[in-house]
Amino acid sequence: MNILLVGSGGREHALAWKLAQSPLLDTLFAAPGNPGIAQHATIAELDVADHRAVIDFVRRQQIGLVVVGPEGPLVDGLADNIRAIGVPVFGPGREAARLEGSKGFTKDLCARVGIPTARYFRVTSRDGALACLDDFGDTCVIKADGLAAGKGVVVADTRAQAEAAIRDLYANGPVEAVIEERLEGPEASLFVLSDGSATAVFGSAQDHKRVGDGDTGPNTGGMGAYSPALVLTPELEERALGEIVRPTIDALAAAGTPYVGVLYAGLMLTAEGPKLIEYNVRFGDPECQVLMMRFAGDLAEVLLAVAEGRLADLPAPAFADDAALTVVMAANGYPGTPEQGGAIGGITAAERDGAVAFQAGTALHGEQLVASGGRVLAVTATGADIAAAQRAAYAAVDAIDFPTGFFRRDIGAKAVDKG
Ligand code: AMP
Ligand code: GLY
Repeated sequence: MNILLVGSGGREHALAWKLAQSPLLDTLFAAPGNPGIAQHATIAELDVADHRAVIDFVRRQQIGLVVVGPEGPLVDGLADNIRAIGVPVFGPGREAARLEGSKGFTKDLCARVGIPTARYFRVTSRDGALACLDDFGDTCVIKADGLAAGKGVVVADTRAQAEAAIRDLYANGPVEAVIEERLEGPEASLFVLSDGSATAVFGSAQDHKRVGDGDTGPNTGGMGAYSPALVLTPELEERALGEIVRPTIDALAAAGTPYVGVLYAGLMLTAEGPKLIEYNVRFGDPECQVLMMRFAGDLAEVLLAVAEGRLADLPAPAFADDAALTVVMAANGYPGTPEQGGAIGGITAAERDGAVAFQAGTALHGEQLVASGGRVLAVTATGADIAAAQRAAYAAVDAIDFPTGFFRRDIGAKAVDKG
Protein backbone atom coordinates (compact mmCIF):
# COMPACT_ATOMS: atom_id res chain seq x y z
CA MET A 1 0.00 0.00 0.00
CA ASN A 2 1.14 3.55 -0.70
CA ILE A 3 0.50 6.08 2.06
CA LEU A 4 0.43 9.87 1.93
CA LEU A 5 1.32 11.62 5.19
CA VAL A 6 0.32 15.28 5.45
CA GLY A 7 2.36 17.54 7.74
CA SER A 8 5.87 18.77 8.48
CA GLY A 9 6.49 18.68 12.23
CA GLY A 10 8.03 16.45 14.86
CA ARG A 11 4.68 14.67 15.16
CA GLU A 12 4.80 13.75 11.47
CA HIS A 13 8.44 12.67 11.71
CA ALA A 14 7.40 10.25 14.47
CA LEU A 15 4.45 9.01 12.38
CA ALA A 16 6.72 8.57 9.33
CA TRP A 17 9.33 6.71 11.43
CA LYS A 18 6.68 4.29 12.69
CA LEU A 19 4.78 3.91 9.39
CA ALA A 20 8.08 3.10 7.64
CA GLN A 21 8.37 0.01 9.89
CA SER A 22 5.10 -1.45 8.58
CA PRO A 23 5.22 -4.55 6.36
CA LEU A 24 2.04 -3.24 4.67
CA LEU A 25 3.88 -0.22 3.28
CA ASP A 26 5.13 0.03 -0.29
CA THR A 27 5.90 3.74 -0.64
CA LEU A 28 5.42 6.46 1.96
CA PHE A 29 4.94 9.95 0.53
CA ALA A 30 4.92 13.07 2.68
CA ALA A 31 3.84 16.65 2.03
CA PRO A 32 5.24 19.12 2.82
CA GLY A 33 7.61 17.03 5.02
CA ASN A 34 10.99 18.05 6.44
CA PRO A 35 14.53 16.62 6.33
CA GLY A 36 13.78 14.17 9.16
CA ILE A 37 10.62 12.91 7.47
CA ALA A 38 12.60 12.61 4.21
CA GLN A 39 14.69 9.86 5.85
CA HIS A 40 11.58 7.65 5.73
CA ALA A 41 9.42 9.10 2.97
CA THR A 42 9.48 10.49 -0.53
CA ILE A 43 8.69 14.20 -0.30
CA ALA A 44 5.80 15.12 -2.58
CA GLU A 45 5.96 18.59 -4.10
CA LEU A 46 2.40 19.41 -3.11
CA ASP A 47 0.58 22.40 -1.70
CA VAL A 48 -1.67 20.66 0.84
CA ALA A 49 -3.98 23.70 0.92
CA ASP A 50 -4.79 22.93 -2.74
CA HIS A 51 -7.20 20.04 -2.23
CA ARG A 52 -7.54 19.38 -5.95
CA ALA A 53 -3.80 18.97 -6.28
CA VAL A 54 -3.81 16.56 -3.32
CA ILE A 55 -6.62 14.53 -4.91
CA ASP A 56 -4.75 14.38 -8.23
CA PHE A 57 -1.66 13.17 -6.41
CA VAL A 58 -3.62 10.54 -4.47
CA ARG A 59 -5.07 9.20 -7.72
CA ARG A 60 -1.80 9.30 -9.65
CA GLN A 61 0.25 7.57 -6.96
CA GLN A 62 -2.50 5.07 -6.10
CA ILE A 63 -2.50 6.11 -2.47
CA GLY A 64 -4.37 3.60 -0.28
CA LEU A 65 -4.39 5.67 2.92
CA VAL A 66 -3.99 9.36 3.68
CA VAL A 67 -2.83 10.25 7.21
CA VAL A 68 -3.37 13.89 8.17
CA GLY A 69 -1.10 15.03 11.02
CA PRO A 70 -2.05 18.66 11.81
CA GLU A 71 -5.42 20.21 12.60
CA GLY A 72 -5.39 22.95 9.95
CA PRO A 73 -6.08 20.75 6.90
CA LEU A 74 -8.74 18.82 8.88
CA VAL A 75 -10.61 21.98 9.86
CA ASP A 76 -10.33 22.96 6.16
CA GLY A 77 -12.13 19.79 5.08
CA LEU A 78 -9.23 17.97 3.41
CA ALA A 79 -10.39 14.62 4.82
CA ASP A 80 -13.91 15.06 3.37
CA ASN A 81 -12.54 15.91 -0.05
CA ILE A 82 -10.30 12.86 -0.17
CA ARG A 83 -13.00 10.55 1.17
CA ALA A 84 -15.26 11.82 -1.60
CA ILE A 85 -13.07 9.95 -4.11
CA GLY A 86 -13.28 6.76 -2.06
CA VAL A 87 -9.81 6.81 -0.50
CA PRO A 88 -9.56 6.07 3.24
CA VAL A 89 -8.35 8.94 5.43
CA PHE A 90 -7.09 8.93 9.01
CA GLY A 91 -8.46 12.21 10.35
CA PRO A 92 -11.92 13.68 10.91
CA GLY A 93 -13.97 15.64 8.41
CA ARG A 94 -14.61 19.36 8.67
CA GLU A 95 -17.69 19.10 10.86
CA ALA A 96 -16.18 16.71 13.44
CA ALA A 97 -12.93 18.72 13.39
CA ARG A 98 -14.88 21.60 14.94
CA LEU A 99 -14.14 19.85 18.24
CA GLU A 100 -10.78 21.62 17.93
CA GLY A 101 -11.71 24.37 15.49
CA SER A 102 -14.35 25.94 17.73
CA LYS A 103 -14.22 25.94 21.52
CA GLY A 104 -17.83 27.14 21.60
CA PHE A 105 -18.95 24.14 19.50
CA THR A 106 -17.26 21.75 21.92
CA LYS A 107 -18.63 23.44 25.02
CA ASP A 108 -22.17 23.38 23.62
CA LEU A 109 -21.81 19.69 22.75
CA CYS A 110 -20.63 18.98 26.30
CA ALA A 111 -23.58 20.88 27.75
CA ARG A 112 -26.05 19.05 25.47
CA VAL A 113 -24.94 15.54 26.40
CA GLY A 114 -23.82 16.15 29.99
CA ILE A 115 -20.03 15.84 29.60
CA PRO A 116 -18.13 17.13 32.65
CA THR A 117 -16.28 20.34 31.79
CA ALA A 118 -15.78 23.84 33.19
CA ARG A 119 -18.91 26.02 33.51
CA TYR A 120 -18.85 28.56 30.67
CA PHE A 121 -20.39 31.41 28.71
CA ARG A 122 -20.00 32.01 24.98
CA VAL A 123 -19.46 35.69 24.31
CA THR A 124 -19.08 37.87 21.22
CA SER A 125 -18.49 41.34 22.64
CA ARG A 126 -16.25 43.00 25.19
CA ASP A 127 -19.09 44.14 27.39
CA GLY A 128 -20.72 40.74 27.23
CA ALA A 129 -17.45 39.14 28.30
CA LEU A 130 -16.92 41.61 31.15
CA ALA A 131 -20.48 41.08 32.32
CA CYS A 132 -20.00 37.37 32.96
CA LEU A 133 -16.95 37.81 35.21
CA ASP A 134 -19.25 38.29 38.22
CA ASP A 135 -20.22 34.65 37.91
CA PHE A 136 -16.72 33.29 38.41
CA GLY A 137 -15.35 34.99 41.51
CA ASP A 138 -11.74 36.05 41.14
CA THR A 139 -10.37 33.44 38.75
CA CYS A 140 -11.49 32.41 35.29
CA VAL A 141 -10.17 31.35 31.90
CA ILE A 142 -10.60 33.35 28.69
CA LYS A 143 -10.39 31.50 25.38
CA ALA A 144 -10.55 32.90 21.89
CA ASP A 145 -12.57 30.69 19.54
CA GLY A 146 -10.77 29.13 16.57
CA LEU A 147 -7.35 27.58 16.07
CA ALA A 148 -4.68 29.37 18.08
CA ALA A 149 -1.70 26.98 18.29
CA GLY A 150 -1.88 26.97 22.09
CA LYS A 151 -1.76 30.75 22.34
CA GLY A 152 -5.41 31.78 22.56
CA VAL A 153 -5.93 30.99 26.25
CA VAL A 154 -5.45 33.21 29.32
CA VAL A 155 -5.77 31.65 32.76
CA ALA A 156 -6.53 34.65 34.99
CA ASP A 157 -5.61 34.63 38.69
CA THR A 158 -7.35 37.91 39.47
CA ARG A 159 -10.29 39.93 38.27
CA ALA A 160 -7.88 42.60 37.00
CA GLN A 161 -6.02 40.04 34.87
CA ALA A 162 -9.30 38.78 33.46
CA GLU A 163 -10.42 42.29 32.56
CA ALA A 164 -7.06 43.04 30.92
CA ALA A 165 -7.23 39.82 28.91
CA ILE A 166 -10.74 40.66 27.72
CA ARG A 167 -9.68 44.18 26.69
CA ASP A 168 -6.76 42.67 24.72
CA LEU A 169 -9.02 40.11 23.09
CA TYR A 170 -11.45 42.79 21.95
CA ALA A 171 -8.85 45.41 21.03
CA ASN A 172 -9.49 44.90 17.32
CA GLY A 173 -13.25 44.42 17.29
CA PRO A 174 -15.69 41.63 17.98
CA VAL A 175 -14.58 37.99 18.18
CA GLU A 176 -16.11 34.77 19.44
CA ALA A 177 -14.78 33.65 22.80
CA VAL A 178 -15.52 31.40 25.74
CA ILE A 179 -15.18 32.54 29.36
CA GLU A 180 -15.06 29.64 31.74
CA GLU A 181 -14.58 28.54 35.29
CA ARG A 182 -11.00 27.81 36.29
CA LEU A 183 -10.53 24.14 37.15
CA GLU A 184 -7.95 22.82 39.61
CA GLY A 185 -6.02 19.58 39.50
CA PRO A 186 -3.32 17.77 37.59
CA GLU A 187 -3.66 17.71 33.80
CA ALA A 188 -3.27 14.67 31.57
CA SER A 189 -3.78 13.90 27.90
CA LEU A 190 -5.69 10.84 26.75
CA PHE A 191 -5.57 9.61 23.14
CA VAL A 192 -8.45 7.60 21.74
CA LEU A 193 -8.81 6.13 18.25
CA SER A 194 -12.28 6.26 16.75
CA ASP A 195 -13.51 4.83 13.44
CA GLY A 196 -16.82 6.64 13.80
CA SER A 197 -18.37 4.14 16.20
CA ALA A 198 -15.78 1.85 17.81
CA THR A 199 -13.10 3.36 20.04
CA ALA A 200 -9.74 2.19 21.39
CA VAL A 201 -7.49 3.91 23.90
CA PHE A 202 -4.15 4.79 22.31
CA GLY A 203 -2.12 5.76 25.36
CA SER A 204 -1.75 8.77 27.59
CA ALA A 205 0.86 11.48 28.01
CA GLN A 206 1.84 14.47 30.07
CA ASP A 207 2.67 17.65 28.18
CA HIS A 208 4.82 20.58 29.42
CA LYS A 209 3.22 23.66 27.89
CA ARG A 210 5.16 26.54 29.48
CA VAL A 211 8.41 27.62 27.89
CA GLY A 212 10.54 27.70 31.04
CA ASP A 213 11.75 25.36 33.78
CA GLY A 214 9.34 25.03 36.69
CA ASP A 215 6.36 25.74 34.38
CA THR A 216 7.20 29.42 34.01
CA GLY A 217 6.85 31.83 31.10
CA PRO A 218 4.36 31.84 28.22
CA ASN A 219 2.50 28.86 26.81
CA THR A 220 4.00 27.05 23.84
CA GLY A 221 2.92 24.19 21.58
CA GLY A 222 4.68 21.91 24.09
CA MET A 223 8.29 21.78 25.33
CA GLY A 224 8.39 18.12 26.26
CA ALA A 225 6.22 15.16 27.23
CA TYR A 226 6.30 11.73 28.71
CA SER A 227 4.11 8.66 28.44
CA PRO A 228 2.29 7.09 30.18
CA ALA A 229 0.71 9.84 32.31
CA LEU A 230 0.96 8.29 35.77
CA VAL A 231 -1.72 10.58 37.25
CA LEU A 232 -4.25 9.05 34.87
CA THR A 233 -4.84 5.81 36.75
CA PRO A 234 -6.76 3.00 35.01
CA GLU A 235 -9.88 4.00 37.02
CA LEU A 236 -9.66 7.66 35.95
CA GLU A 237 -8.96 6.63 32.36
CA GLU A 238 -12.08 4.45 32.40
CA ARG A 239 -14.14 7.36 33.73
CA ALA A 240 -12.72 9.77 31.14
CA LEU A 241 -13.54 7.30 28.40
CA GLY A 242 -17.06 6.59 29.63
CA GLU A 243 -18.07 10.08 30.78
CA ILE A 244 -16.24 12.26 28.24
CA VAL A 245 -14.86 10.61 25.10
CA ARG A 246 -17.50 7.96 24.34
CA PRO A 247 -20.44 10.36 24.69
CA THR A 248 -18.65 12.76 22.33
CA ILE A 249 -18.05 10.08 19.69
CA ASP A 250 -21.66 8.91 20.06
CA ALA A 251 -23.02 12.46 19.75
CA LEU A 252 -21.06 13.08 16.55
CA ALA A 253 -22.19 9.74 15.10
CA ALA A 254 -25.82 10.57 15.96
CA ALA A 255 -25.42 13.95 14.23
CA GLY A 256 -24.30 12.19 11.04
CA THR A 257 -20.76 13.57 11.33
CA PRO A 258 -18.80 10.56 12.59
CA TYR A 259 -15.37 11.11 14.12
CA VAL A 260 -12.65 9.17 12.28
CA GLY A 261 -9.10 9.53 13.56
CA VAL A 262 -7.50 10.11 16.93
CA LEU A 263 -9.22 12.26 19.52
CA TYR A 264 -6.88 13.95 21.98
CA ALA A 265 -8.70 14.79 25.21
CA GLY A 266 -6.96 17.36 27.43
CA LEU A 267 -8.22 16.51 30.92
CA MET A 268 -8.19 18.17 34.31
CA LEU A 269 -8.29 15.54 37.05
CA THR A 270 -10.38 17.47 39.56
CA ALA A 271 -11.54 16.38 43.00
CA GLU A 272 -14.90 15.58 41.37
CA GLY A 273 -13.34 13.45 38.66
CA PRO A 274 -11.94 14.02 35.16
CA LYS A 275 -13.23 17.10 33.34
CA LEU A 276 -12.61 18.08 29.74
CA ILE A 277 -10.33 21.10 29.20
CA GLU A 278 -10.20 20.85 25.44
CA TYR A 279 -10.20 18.49 22.48
CA ASN A 280 -7.66 18.29 19.71
CA VAL A 281 -8.55 16.35 16.57
CA ARG A 282 -5.08 14.91 15.99
CA PHE A 283 -2.10 13.50 17.81
CA GLY A 284 -0.34 15.94 20.13
CA ASP A 285 3.04 17.33 19.26
CA PRO A 286 5.32 16.29 21.04
CA GLU A 287 2.99 13.70 22.66
CA CYS A 288 2.94 11.70 19.41
CA GLN A 289 6.70 11.23 19.61
CA VAL A 290 6.48 9.43 22.97
CA LEU A 291 3.43 7.40 21.92
CA MET A 292 5.17 6.18 18.76
CA MET A 293 8.27 5.14 20.72
CA ARG A 294 6.04 2.97 22.95
CA PHE A 295 3.50 1.66 20.44
CA ALA A 296 4.24 -2.01 19.80
CA GLY A 297 1.94 -2.69 16.84
CA ASP A 298 1.81 -2.02 13.10
CA LEU A 299 0.83 1.63 12.77
CA ALA A 300 -0.26 1.40 9.13
CA GLU A 301 -2.55 -1.52 9.96
CA VAL A 302 -4.19 0.36 12.84
CA LEU A 303 -4.61 3.69 11.04
CA LEU A 304 -6.06 1.94 7.98
CA ALA A 305 -8.53 0.01 10.17
CA VAL A 306 -9.63 3.32 11.73
CA ALA A 307 -10.01 4.93 8.30
CA GLU A 308 -12.01 1.96 6.97
CA GLY A 309 -14.30 1.57 9.98
CA ARG A 310 -12.79 -1.77 11.04
CA LEU A 311 -11.35 -0.80 14.42
CA ALA A 312 -13.56 -3.32 16.27
CA ASP A 313 -11.89 -6.17 14.35
CA LEU A 314 -8.44 -5.39 15.73
CA PRO A 315 -7.02 -6.32 19.14
CA ALA A 316 -6.56 -3.36 21.52
CA PRO A 317 -3.43 -1.35 20.61
CA ALA A 318 -0.44 -2.70 22.53
CA PHE A 319 2.22 -0.50 24.13
CA ALA A 320 5.60 -1.35 25.61
CA ASP A 321 5.73 -1.28 29.41
CA ASP A 322 8.69 1.05 29.00
CA ALA A 323 8.14 4.75 29.55
CA ALA A 324 9.14 7.29 26.91
CA LEU A 325 10.17 10.91 27.37
CA THR A 326 10.82 13.66 24.85
CA VAL A 327 12.64 16.97 25.26
CA VAL A 328 11.92 19.70 22.72
CA MET A 329 14.89 21.76 21.57
CA ALA A 330 13.58 25.11 20.36
CA ALA A 331 15.25 28.01 18.58
CA ASN A 332 16.10 31.03 20.76
CA GLY A 333 13.17 33.43 20.76
CA TYR A 334 10.42 30.77 20.70
CA PRO A 335 7.46 31.13 21.33
CA GLY A 336 8.00 34.67 20.05
CA THR A 337 10.11 35.11 16.93
CA PRO A 338 12.55 32.21 16.73
CA GLU A 339 16.08 32.67 15.41
CA GLN A 340 16.35 30.99 12.01
CA GLY A 341 19.25 29.26 10.33
CA GLY A 342 21.27 28.11 13.37
CA ALA A 343 23.37 25.01 12.67
CA ILE A 344 22.43 21.68 14.27
CA GLY A 345 24.97 18.90 14.79
CA GLY A 346 25.43 15.73 16.80
CA ILE A 347 22.28 13.87 15.78
CA THR A 348 24.15 10.63 15.04
CA ALA A 349 25.84 10.75 18.44
CA ALA A 350 22.51 11.54 20.14
CA GLU A 351 20.86 8.51 18.54
CA ARG A 352 23.70 6.10 19.40
CA ASP A 353 21.90 4.38 22.30
CA GLY A 354 18.44 4.14 20.77
CA ALA A 355 17.15 7.68 21.28
CA VAL A 356 15.55 9.36 18.26
CA ALA A 357 15.93 13.06 17.46
CA PHE A 358 12.61 13.70 15.72
CA GLN A 359 12.85 16.78 13.54
CA ALA A 360 10.29 19.59 13.50
CA GLY A 361 11.47 23.01 12.26
CA THR A 362 14.57 21.94 10.36
CA ALA A 363 15.90 22.55 6.87
CA LEU A 364 18.98 21.61 4.88
CA HIS A 365 21.34 24.32 3.70
CA GLY A 366 23.45 22.22 1.39
CA GLU A 367 24.64 19.41 3.67
CA GLN A 368 24.11 21.39 6.88
CA LEU A 369 21.00 20.81 8.98
CA VAL A 370 19.72 24.15 10.30
CA ALA A 371 16.82 25.47 12.37
CA SER A 372 13.87 26.77 10.37
CA GLY A 373 11.08 27.00 12.94
CA GLY A 374 10.27 27.49 16.62
CA ARG A 375 10.36 23.94 17.85
CA VAL A 376 13.31 22.31 16.09
CA LEU A 377 13.95 18.83 17.54
CA ALA A 378 12.07 16.48 19.86
CA VAL A 379 14.75 14.27 21.36
CA THR A 380 13.01 11.12 22.51
CA ALA A 381 14.12 8.06 24.48
CA THR A 382 12.66 5.13 26.38
CA GLY A 383 13.54 3.52 29.70
CA ALA A 384 12.20 1.07 32.27
CA ASP A 385 10.49 3.97 34.05
CA ILE A 386 10.17 7.73 33.59
CA ALA A 387 13.40 8.40 35.49
CA ALA A 388 15.33 6.07 33.16
CA ALA A 389 13.67 7.54 30.05
CA GLN A 390 14.50 11.02 31.34
CA ARG A 391 18.18 10.12 31.84
CA ALA A 392 18.38 8.63 28.35
CA ALA A 393 16.62 11.57 26.71
CA TYR A 394 18.84 14.17 28.40
CA ALA A 395 21.99 12.15 27.58
CA ALA A 396 20.88 12.38 23.93
CA VAL A 397 20.06 16.10 24.23
CA ASP A 398 23.52 16.72 25.65
CA ALA A 399 25.06 15.11 22.57
CA ILE A 400 23.29 17.61 20.28
CA ASP A 401 25.16 20.70 19.22
CA PHE A 402 22.63 23.50 18.65
CA PRO A 403 24.13 26.74 19.94
CA THR A 404 21.19 28.94 18.89
CA GLY A 405 18.68 26.73 20.67
CA PHE A 406 17.41 26.06 24.19
CA PHE A 407 15.39 23.44 26.05
CA ARG A 408 13.84 22.75 29.43
CA ARG A 409 15.93 20.79 31.92
CA ASP A 410 12.97 19.54 33.95
CA ILE A 411 10.79 17.50 31.59
CA GLY A 412 9.33 14.68 33.70
CA ALA A 413 10.80 16.08 36.94
CA LYS A 414 7.51 16.11 38.84
CA ALA A 415 6.84 12.45 38.01
CA VAL A 416 10.38 11.46 38.90
CA ASP A 417 10.25 13.31 42.25
CA LYS A 418 7.05 11.48 43.16
CA GLY A 419 8.79 8.35 41.94
P1 AMP B 1 -6.27 24.85 25.99
O1 AMP B 1 -5.67 25.55 24.78
O2 AMP B 1 -7.74 24.92 26.08
O3 AMP B 1 -5.68 23.48 26.18
O4 AMP B 1 -5.67 25.61 27.23
C1 AMP B 1 -4.28 25.72 27.44
C2 AMP B 1 -3.97 25.49 28.89
O5 AMP B 1 -4.69 26.42 29.69
C3 AMP B 1 -4.40 24.12 29.40
O6 AMP B 1 -3.46 23.13 29.18
C4 AMP B 1 -4.57 24.40 30.88
O7 AMP B 1 -3.31 24.38 31.54
C5 AMP B 1 -5.10 25.80 30.91
N1 AMP B 1 -6.57 25.78 30.99
C6 AMP B 1 -7.46 25.79 29.98
N2 AMP B 1 -8.72 25.76 30.45
C7 AMP B 1 -8.63 25.74 31.79
C8 AMP B 1 -9.61 25.73 32.85
N3 AMP B 1 -10.91 25.74 32.61
N4 AMP B 1 -9.14 25.71 34.13
C9 AMP B 1 -7.82 25.74 34.39
N5 AMP B 1 -6.87 25.75 33.44
C10 AMP B 1 -7.26 25.75 32.14
N1 GLY C 1 1.33 19.54 22.77
C1 GLY C 1 0.03 20.08 22.68
C2 GLY C 1 -0.61 19.95 21.38
O1 GLY C 1 -0.18 19.22 20.50
O2 GLY C 1 -1.65 20.58 21.19
